[in-house]
Amino acid sequence: MIQAEEISKNKVPVHVAIIMDGNGRWAKAKGLDRAEGHRYGAEAVKKVVRAAGKIGVEYLTLYAFSSENWKRPQYEVDAIMDLLVFMIQRETPELMQNNVRLQAIGEIDRLRPEARKKLEDTIQTTSENTGLNLILALSYSSKKEILRAVKSVAVKVKNGEIKPEDIDESYVDGSLYTADMPDPDLLIRTSGELRISNFLLWQIAYSEFYFTKTYWPDFDEQAFYEAIQDYQARERRFGLTGEQITSNSNPTE
Ligand code: IPE
Ligand code: IPE
Ligand code: MG
Repeated sequence: MIQAEEISKNKVPVHVAIIMDGNGRWAKAKGLDRAEGHRYGAEAVKKVVRAAGKIGVEYLTLYAFSSENWKRPQYEVDAIMDLLVFMIQRETPELMQNNVRLQAIGEIDRLRPEARKKLEDTIQTTSENTGLNLILALSYSSKKEILRAVKSVAVKVKNGEIKPEDIDESYVDGSLYTADMPDPDLLIRTSGELRISNFLLWQIAYSEFYFTKTYWPDFDEQAFYEAIQDYQARERRFGLTGEQITSNSNPTE
């Protein structure tokens, strides 16, 4: 058993992003409906949010629903949206108690009005909190996010607000949903799938990847701490040599 206190304070990832996958297969293996898988998956979210807060992660981005997921059977989409509304409502007091600030990235205007309203209310309620930043990716597609950024930059050029030569990496960063967030240090995907599924393509350019076969509803504090310890044992080189890294503690400079 790994306890929060045993996690080294030195190399805690500032930003952890998670592709929470495997709810459907978890349910199927237990002879349950897929919606039940999502329900248990929501409980896993609670555990991981707590664990991340305990060890001092500053940003936790959770891929909860992709733009592609709208194409699932209507009953499943409805179950996920109902769950979203229910969870946000039920958990807002605990978010406040734990100083968690909720944010969202994605096509929030595609959510049905009730879900959108609840989400925006909680984002507003928690906006002054200074602890963990919990970011839900909802109706999120990285390609759509990049496309939206490209269009907004094109409009600014057209209106003469900026010149093409003003566009650098940080300008693109600032045009994405994730404008004010650092890039993920660690990307976790559960359920054994080895793919990114249109998640944060620009932002994960130098993230460390951690894949586990565990289905999301079984992912708990322990599983989270294992991922963190795995990350802490890695050497991030950012293009440099291993020798350069050991003689320079700040490789991005
Ligand atoms: C992840 O679990 C949750 C969402 C995509 C909303 P899945 O529902 O994709 O579970 P599997 O991949 O079918 O097992
Ligand atoms: C990715 O999972 C999206 C979320 C976890 C919300 P999917 O289950 O939708 O991914 P694919 O379709 O198997 O790649
Ligand atoms: Mg899946």
